[in-house]
Formats: sequence, C-alpha cells, structure tokens
Amino acid sequence: NWTTGNIVEEQVERIRAQIGTAKVICGLSGGVDSAVAAALVQRAVGDQLTCVFVDHGLLREGEAEQVERDYVAATGVKLHVANEQQRFLSALAGVTDPETKRKIIGREFIRAFEAAEKAVLAEAAAEGGQVQFLVQGTLYPDVVESGGGEGAANIKSHHNVGGLPEDLQFELVEPLRTLFKDEVRAVGRQLGLPEEIVGRQPFPGPGLGIRIIGEVTEDRLALLRRADAIARAELTAAGLDDDVWQMPVVLLADVRSVGVQGDGRTYGHPIVLRPVSSEDAMTADWSRLPFDLLARISNRITNEVDGVNRVVLDVTSKPPGTIEWE
Ligand code: XMP
Repeated sequence: NWTTGNIVEEQVERIRAQIGTAKVICGLSGGVDSAVAAALVQRAVGDQLTCVFVDHGLLREGEAEQVERDYVAATGVKLHVANEQQRFLSALAGVTDPETKRKIIGREFIRAFEAAEKAVLAEAAAEGGQVQFLVQGTLYPDVVESGGGEGAANIKSHHNVGGLPEDLQFELVEPLRTLFKDEVRAVGRQLGLPEEIVGRQPFPGPGLGIRIIGEVTEDRLALLRRADAIARAELTAAGLDDDVWQMPVVLLADVRSVGVQGDGRTYGHPIVLRPVSSEDAMTADWSRLPFDLLARISNRITNEVDGVNRVVLDVTSKPPGTIEWE
C-alpha cells in the first residue's frame, strides 16, 4: 500500500545508508529520469551531491534554462555546467550519415562528461572529500529489459546519459530501479520539480542532432528550435499533450521547394511534423491531430520561421517508419 510519499521517504533512507558521508556525482540530461534521481539524492545527502549538465547545444528551446535555472531553484542542487556547444558543432561539421552522427554525439558526450567529472573530482578532493558514487536514473523496465534502451537499440545506436560507460571507480546509486515512468513523474511532482521537466515527452539523447536531416549547423539548429517550440506550444494550447506520445519536428535541411510568400518566390526548406501515439515506443501509430491544429502550426511556422516555406505531416506508423527520422 504505497504512496508517493512513502517512496520518497523510503528511497531517501536507502540512499543515506548507501552513501554515508561520501560524495556523489550525477549527470543531468534535461530529461525526467535523471532529474528525479538527482532530486532524491539531493534530498537524502544535500551538498554531498554535485550534478553535471553537459550542454551539447542540441536541446530544444528553453531546455538548458529549465535545468540551469528552474531545476536548481526547485532543488537547491549544486550544478556544474559544461558549455560544450562548440565541441559538438565542430565534431558534427560535414557529417550527414545518421549512424555516424549518433556515434559522434555519443563519443563527444562521454568525453565532455569525463572532463567535467574530472573538475568535480578535483574540487571534492580540494575540500577533503572523495567522490565514490554515481547516480543513474535506471527505471524498472530498463532493469527488466537488461540491455536497456527501447528495443530499437539494434536498429539505431542509442545514446543517453544512462549509457555512459560503466565507470568502475564509482559505485552506482539507482533510486528509480523499482519504479515505472508514471511513478517517477509522481515522485518528481512530490519533490516539487518544474512541470516542464516532470511532464516532458521522451526526447532522444542525440537531441536535435538527429532531427536535422543533413549536416548539423548552428543556423539550422536555431531554425529547428523555433519551429519545434511553435509546434509544441500549439499542441499544449490545444490541450492534447496527453494524447500524443511525442511529436518530433524534423528539418529536411537538404531539401528545398519553391513557394510564394508576399510578392516573392521563395525557395525554402520543409519541416516535418511527426506526432505519434504509442505505449512503449516499440510500435507507434501516427496521431490523428485535428486539422485546425495542424493548420495553426503550419501557418505559424511558415510565417514565423525564416527559411521554411512548407510544413508536411508524417502519416507512417512504426513499423515500417521509426519514430525519429534518423
Ligand atoms: P525510434 O526512432 O527508434 O525511437 O522509433 C524510439 C524511441 O526512442 C527515442 N530515441 C532515443 N532515446 N537515446 C534515447 O535516449 C537515443 O539515442 C534515442 N534515439 C531514439 C525516440 O525519441 C523514441 O521515443
């Protein structure tokens, strides 16, 4: 007969018993799992925890701020931010192959995280402490699937913060190991985390890097970020967040089509909307969004986002299409 309150109390006790007076480190991705895991550990051992946030520049509009400002304000977590946007842009320059992009992002993420980790370890040592633990937001389904991921791991190389190589110098703290996603969200709300983080739809580790079909550049990221923010805002305004599992917004950066806007001819890029309904992301169906919502999203994106003159809807189920385009 559990309640969310019990879960919090019980986990806080366990975490305290496991960690004692040692120091602990946790990577934040911006997603709900790492955010809730870290908040529990913070509740248990306070400043013995340092969180690391690698900003790879591939997040959506507002997401870095939600971690750096809102999450820190809500939890009081000690946060080390690694601004690594340039590292990722340089590593991705000229790359168009999806698997190559995924591998590069995964590799650079590990390098960036390890560099940040070193700084945190040095700081702890200077304070006379030692970092002995690493927090991971492993959920019960990940444990059961052992091998983790969403089952699509054989099809695409998955990257997320939980996918860091096993760091043998640390013992793992996994406070979400017995929980399902909806329980994790409930715990997050109980801990007072920002709703933007707790209610967030699944977002892939490689972020917008795999939602730009073609080379990833700063300008293209800015364009896609704007289009994505408009689509998400309209979906939320229509009250349909709970009906849609996730809605990737994809930029076809190497495709152009002719259009007409005002008095002139345009030659711009298409944006693809990929709203899907799903239970577990293993299979999915395209969401039958209301036409007036689609019309609003289309009007706003073509009017407000420079360089985009067409919005198209992906009406493919999974299989045969995956949810993400890369
Ligand atoms: P696909 O595109 O394979 O995606 O149908 C299935 C689900 O997994 C998400 N996804 C990822 N999640 N790291 C993640 O943490 C990744 O590299 C990754 N790639 C895809 C995708 O958004 C969908 O929810």
